[in-house]
Amino acid sequence: MKILVVNGPNLKLLGTRCPELYGSETLKSLEESMTRRAGALGVEISFFQSDCEGAIVERIGRCISEGIDGIIINPAAYTHTSIAIHDALEAVRIPAVEVHISNIHKREEFRRRTMTASACLGSICGLGFFGYELALDALFNHIKKVEK
Ligand code: DQA
Repeated sequence: MKILVVNGPNLKLLGTRCPELYGSETLKSLEESMTRRAGALGVEISFFQSDCEGAIVERIGRCISEGIDGIIINPAAYTHTSIAIHDALEAVRIPAVEVHISNIHKREEFRRRTMTASACLGSICGLGFFGYELALDALFNHIKKVEK
């Protein structure tokens, strides 16, 4: 099973960016712990981070030819604006789970709307980095069930 983790704009700054919202751990430490969790599940995991909407759309589009079975995506600020990322997720028809480190419903009004969640299997927010692990478990269970 192959899972891709996509992180959107400014998430490479994790660790120093608003630690009161996003914690003090880095993107590298997130990727390391996800690699360990994926290894325990026997899942092949890969990572992509970009600050550019088009690059994220392009990366999602390549998932079919690469045989990716599931996508974990934190579109960051593009969550609230990007029809293009919504359409890319919808077009590839690969199960995706949207993750937000912070609770987007507890913050500014503009963060409550997500353009991308409706193209996903489900979404998790407000649980910090743990949300990515939950997303991995959820995708793993979903894909196994569908494969049966
Ligand atoms: C975020 C929430 C978004 O509103 C914000 O723009 C981000 C991070 C989160 O993980 O909590 O960049 O996606």
